[in-house]
Amino acid sequence: MSRYKKIVLLKDTKEDKSTKRFYDLLLSKLREKELVDSIQVVRAADIGLYDKGVVFKIFPENIVYAHVKEEDIDSIIDKTLIKNKIIEDLVFKPQDKQLRIVLRNCGIVDPENIDDYICQDGYQAFKKVLLKKSQDYVIEEMKISGLRGRGGGGFPTWMKWSFAKGVSSDQKFVICNADEGDPGAYMDRSVLEGDPHSVLEGMMISGYAIGATKGFLYIRAEYPLAIKRIDIAIKQAREYGLLGENILGSGFNFDLEIRLGAGAFVCGEETALIASIEGKRGCPKPRPPYPSIKGLWDKPTVINNVETLANIPIILFKGGQWFSSIGTEKSKGTKVFALTGKVKNSGLVEVPMGTTLREIVFDIGGGVFEDKKIKAIQTGGPSGGVIPVDYFDTPVEYESLQKLGSIMGSGGMIVMDETDCMIDIAKFYLGFCVEESCGKCAPCRIGGTQLLGLLTKISEGKGELDDLRKLKVISLGMQKASLCGLGQTAANPVLSTIKFFNEEYLLHIKEKRCPAGKCSNLFSYTIIEEKCKRCGLCLRNCPVGAITGDKNQGYVIDQEKCIQCGRCFEVCRFLAIRR
Ligand SMILES: Cc1cc2nc3c(=O)[nH]c(=O)nc-3n(C[C@H](O)[C@H](O)[C@H](O)COP(=O)(O)O)c2cc1C
Ligand code: SF4
Ligand code: SF4
Repeated sequence: MSRYKKIVLLKDTKEDKSTKRFYDLLLSKLREKELVDSIQVVRAADIGLYDKGVVFKIFPENIVYAHVKEEDIDSIIDKTLIKNKIIEDLVFKPQDKQLRIVLRNCGIVDPENIDDYICQDGYQAFKKVLLKKSQDYVIEEMKISGLRGRGGGGFPTWMKWSFAKGVSSDQKFVICNADEGDPGAYMDRSVLEGDPHSVLEGMMISGYAIGATKGFLYIRAEYPLAIKRIDIAIKQAREYGLLGENILGSGFNFDLEIRLGAGAFVCGEETALIASIEGKRGCPKPRPPYPSIKGLWDKPTVINNVETLANIPIILFKGGQWFSSIGTEKSKGTKVFALTGKVKNSGLVEVPMGTTLREIVFDIGGGVFEDKKIKAIQTGGPSGGVIPVDYFDTPVEYESLQKLGSIMGSGGMIVMDETDCMIDIAKFYLGFCVEESCGKCAPCRIGGTQLLGLLTKISEGKGELDDLRKLKVISLGMQKASLCGLGQTAANPVLSTIKFFNEEYLLHIKEKRCPAGKCSNLFSYTIIEEKCKRCGLCLRNCPVGAITGDKNQGYVIDQEKCIQCGRCFEVCRFLAIRR
């Protein structure tokens, strides 16, 4: 790369337009000073810094300036870019625990330029192992690293590779699972879009380690930019001789192809995914045999998640020991989370394993939106569970989350406050699984529908105490008897909400009350006469004309017409609407 410096201009989500103005201004000043050939400016969507205004990250020094104003641009160019001097007043020193290993290149490299990736030591690990190291060396280094699969199950990556390597076969495959179907999750999409070559390099190393000749990237069709960038990256890797026959003169043949998923959540399950690539209906199969022994077209196949694969080049480059020094005893490295819900700074965060939920939600996420009372966090998507705020000092690692009835999953984290109803949350996730179940086995197909029926009954105020017992019995049956992970884990949100928020279930069942004000059958809106200042704002905002009256008589809500949208409750400045 001929350019010696690079500025990353970060997008501040709240000030997108001003960031564009900054970008244009900066470019015009660089042009004026004839610096455009030596300094590259990249607009990055997300590098894990929130509420810091416009941020400049300057490479190779890795200087971060936050809350940059337009009038700072001249001095940044003159002092930092030309004279290499740091402007102390602008420097931002991160206080939180974020550590970017998986996202190391996102927002830093141009994802459509292989040279940019190579400049960040890209393809060095592949070259090293291919030309100088054995397959056993690679697997041993992975074992030392302690990397576990990031697709949800947390299975040791080296072990899967070693099983596949151990089987003799005329052909073997590697697959990148980029189906990412959990609601709220976009970790994998960000890696594919921001650093596609790291995923390809991970696949090449995996292919070499097990002796595969071909790899497939199974990407959901709703990710057009990711597909485009992976396609460009594959073509560039072929041009550079990193894919194809006799790679770098080593005698190793390996190539990659993209396959598109049609958006079924169950197709992320490895056996369903394999069926889908084979052109069959995406339904799970019983295991064993596991894909590493008998997978795609009955050949040994290693399936790894996008994030797992993006870790591999840097592990082989820096060594397994380096990776295993990060994280906890049983959960090594970092994990990327999509932090969403009622949190001030939502976005992608990457933290070392062992970081507590509290540090993620408060130190990085900035706490709860509108300073409401925090209630819980949902981890692991539809297969996960809800963890109450009392357990926020729990370190994030595979085992500790499991102990609480949740899972790490692929990395969705949804923060909930006092206005979130736990029955409503359980209903949402269960509804998703019922919708996405392939219907092949009865425990999932029938059990899921029965659970949803019971939750709906409770949320409508028709629940009975015995429904709680039924919910538990059906859930345990689904966990034990379902064929695949979808059915085995679909009841987790139900069981964890019953475990931690039993009181809320009892209020719905016994008192027909929804304390969060979410279950619309369990409350009505009325106007508190003594508090009403007769401003008429509620009347003007009611979308269905359910409020009548005037300044002289006061206002009333017609319960027949009211659709419980809550608009009047939200707009009233005098807290004169009761729910
Ligand atoms: C219903 C269901 C959906 C899944 N979806 C995904 C997915 O979108 N991406 C993924 O990597 N793994 C997904 N998995 C897990 C895969 O079956 C498999 O364990 C994973 O791809 C292995 O990669 P890893 O070892 O790198 O985690 C899903 C599992 C189930 C049961
Ligand atoms: S558990 Fe559900 S999704 Fe999985 S095979 Fe059975 S019916 Fe299909
Ligand atoms: S809750 Fe909605 S529909 Fe009902 S009175 Fe208020 S604004 Fe009108």
